[in-house]
Amino acid sequence: MVTLGDFSEAVCSLQEKGFAILPAFVPEEQVEAMKKRAREIASASNPEKLSIFQTSNEQQRTSDEYFLTSGDKVRCFFEQEAVQEGQLALEREVCVNKIGHALHVHDETFKQFSTSANIRALVKALGFEEPLLVQSMFIFKNPQVGGEVSPHQDSTFLWTDPKPTCIGLWFALDDASIENGCLWAIPGSHTTEITRRFVRTPSGNATEWRGCSSETVCLDDFTPLEVEKGTLVVLHGGVMHMSYANKSKRPRNAFTLHIIEGKDTIWPKENWLQSATPFVAL
Ligand code: FE2
Repeated sequence: MVTLGDFSEAVCSLQEKGFAILPAFVPEEQVEAMKKRAREIASASNPEKLSIFQTSNEQQRTSDEYFLTSGDKVRCFFEQEAVQEGQLALEREVCVNKIGHALHVHDETFKQFSTSANIRALVKALGFEEPLLVQSMFIFKNPQVGGEVSPHQDSTFLWTDPKPTCIGLWFALDDASIENGCLWAIPGSHTTEITRRFVRTPSGNATEWRGCSSETVCLDDFTPLEVEKGTLVVLHGGVMHMSYANKSKRPRNAFTLHIIEGKDTIWPKENWLQSATPFVAL
């Protein structure tokens, strides 16, 4: 692992803009190891779960259950455009949108990376006292099929009481440019209050939106975060970010981790993400 030591610039950037860019955070061999392992998991995924993108009530129920019980498991989610009439339009590995949401718990390659000394040092430097790892995702964003991710704030999905504390760590596993669907963010938007949340319904077996956005998002306000392979982008839980579809011929793989403050906070039962085992302490 690269030894970085001083994260003071990242801390300043996160406070000022709501995001920080740390080039060369992930060594090449770890980048390749994570990509190789993700392809293996995608190749072995269960094709029966293709029904998650159908829209009938029964299939919607299956979809909700598959998603809602994935917080402490390793599961593949497929690109909507890659599934036609219940069949994959392309090779299975190409059609996978992401693997989530507990690679850091169950897979040795991702577990080692996610709990490494450098990541522990970084989150301490960012001010976390009792950091907890709540979620991991491998995002494929494959050529031609990798879809758009609409503007959002991560704390909308990963809320903590009494106040939001979530940050996202986004590791570029390919060069990410405008062409292949890099991240875009609105500098300074992290100071915007979180007024909308994605939660479970009272029954606990479906999801709904609660509240509404405080203001309309203007696409002209976003700035592209074009980064090289191995770069870490730290995202404040309140920063507005998005990515466009990958229309290029190059993949745009990324691995992401989400961390919350465990001290003096509660993880609400209505958060969509729930885990039967305690969150991993860093
Ligand atoms: Fe996000």
